[in-house]
Amino acid sequence: MVHNEIREKFLKFFESRGHKLVPSSSLLPTDPSVLFTTAGMQQFKPYYTGQADAQEDFGSLNAVSIQKCIRTSAIGEVGDESHLTFFEMLGNFSFGGYWKKEAIEYAHEFITKELGLNIDYVSVFEGENGIPADTESEKIWKSIDPTLEVRRFGREDNFWGPTGEEGPCGPSTEVFVKGIKYEIWNIVFNEFYCSKDKKFTPLDIKGIDTGMGLERLTSAVQNKSNIFETDLFEPLMSLLPDLIDIRKKRVISDHLRAAVFLLTDGVLASNKEQGYILRRLLRRAMVYENQANLPPHIFEDIIAKIIEIYGNEYSELKAKKDEIMNSYHTESNKFMKALSSGIKELQKTTVIDSESAFKLYESYGLPFEVIKEVGAEKASSLTREGFEMERKRHQEISRAGAEKKFGGHGIVEGDLTAANKEEMWQKTRLHTATHIIVAALKKVLKQDLPQAGSDINAERLRFDFTFPRKLTDDELREAEKIANQIVEQDVVVTKTEMPYEDAIKSGAAGFFKLKYPPMVKVFTIGPDTGYFSREICGGPHVSRTAEIGRIKITKEESVSGGNRRIRAVIE
Ligand code: ALA
Repeated sequence: MVHNEIREKFLKFFESRGHKLVPSSSLLPTDPSVLFTTAGMQQFKPYYTGQADAQEDFGSLNAVSIQKCIRTSAIGEVGDESHLTFFEMLGNFSFGGYWKKEAIEYAHEFITKELGLNIDYVSVFEGENGIPADTESEKIWKSIDPTLEVRRFGREDNFWGPTGEEGPCGPSTEVFVKGIKYEIWNIVFNEFYCSKDKKFTPLDIKGIDTGMGLERLTSAVQNKSNIFETDLFEPLMSLLPDLIDIRKKRVISDHLRAAVFLLTDGVLASNKEQGYILRRLLRRAMVYENQANLPPHIFEDIIAKIIEIYGNEYSELKAKKDEIMNSYHTESNKFMKALSSGIKELQKTTVIDSESAFKLYESYGLPFEVIKEVGAEKASSLTREGFEMERKRHQEISRAGAEKKFGGHGIVEGDLTAANKEEMWQKTRLHTATHIIVAALKKVLKQDLPQAGSDINAERLRFDFTFPRKLTDDELREAEKIANQIVEQDVVVTKTEMPYEDAIKSGAAGFFKLKYPPMVKVFTIGPDTGYFSREICGGPHVSRTAEIGRIKITKEESVSGGNRRIRAVIE
């Protein structure tokens, strides 16, 4: 069975059992407390907590998805049989629809009947920290198959979440199949909300959240002892010459695959946050490329192959092929120049501790993994934690330096930060312009547009929203016309503070995926009796629309997760 058949089988199985197919969300989540999307449940968090209504949004209490994920926690283990940075997670979800019995029965049926695999054993939560053992799941498994071995484990193994600083969480049951050492399927029973201070409160809605790595499942179905021999990886591995060590081949395949997906979702290599991870992935692969003296076309061929393998599932990869290749070349050109001098310097250094490792990183861009590996014995005391602490220390120093440069007057107002007053004013005008364009688009498209993120700098505004197709030129022109009419009418923009529930009742729109505080600010553009736009927002905004100036929509494009992106400027 090829990997695409496994995908199809999974989706069909759950769709035919009343689950709504929801596309993968972007690898960059809206939750600012996490760097990447690490699980299928992340985009569904508000449905578990009752902040959003699945029945309303999906026409069902149950959903199924294949989610793109990045997990950096296992970066050091990549190269073994089962660890990856990028992977796809098959998941079925329920937000108050069904509970343990159905979830376990579905899992059993899918694994044994649809895929014909043999379950080796399952595990359940044995109870810890005042949360009782999950005897119910154990009974359900036994009722399906009395001979099945059920093992019990604690919080470390059989309890999931929360992702980010807070969120839904609960005990889980895991499925292990014969012939494969690693867990195949994790079925989570989201019964609790875990707050920032790590307190558990029972959730009103009991939710199901499951996750099964496509790569691991494929290795089981295709009877391979490791994920790199499956048809997801074999076409990449075979492009690398035999002389390269198997572990390095695996790392290259994994890292380039993750990089392609990150670039597609708009990450650019840099020294911060997501860009820093992307840079490390690319550079580590490039060091191996350099050590093996590979001709440049090999990495290009691998990238092209990745786009080919995934292009049908994720059409954005095909659409962005040129951008991906260009970004890859930019990073490669930058790094390759410094690489050989960096390696020479590394070889000259006698003891590599956090400080000398950071110097190598800062001067030559050598990533931690490479310093550790090439440094070998000399770097035996170097740890990732030590290195990251040194990096943070330097970031603090340069941040303090920048503040000094601005005379300590960098400013923050509501949702915006700016270097000075002029920049803040420019951003404020763009901020109100964003609300106006969103409202204008809703009018033109005659529907609500769930918002999926926004970004404003001194030059332009940008926002994402969920809509299934490209907007026509006519629609964009019409929205721009309506937006400028509102500017010309010079209507008033008012701010009111009220409880969140009242805000929703008063017709205010919000980012449905965000968790709001009990009291929120609502900005209304136009008179209360017939307003043009009303949104929950931190501000700041202009007080009259004529202060904005002419609005010009400059671009409309597709981004991942079925979202569209609009860019606009003010003149
Ligand atoms: N959210 C669970 C996981 O990622 C299913 O393992």
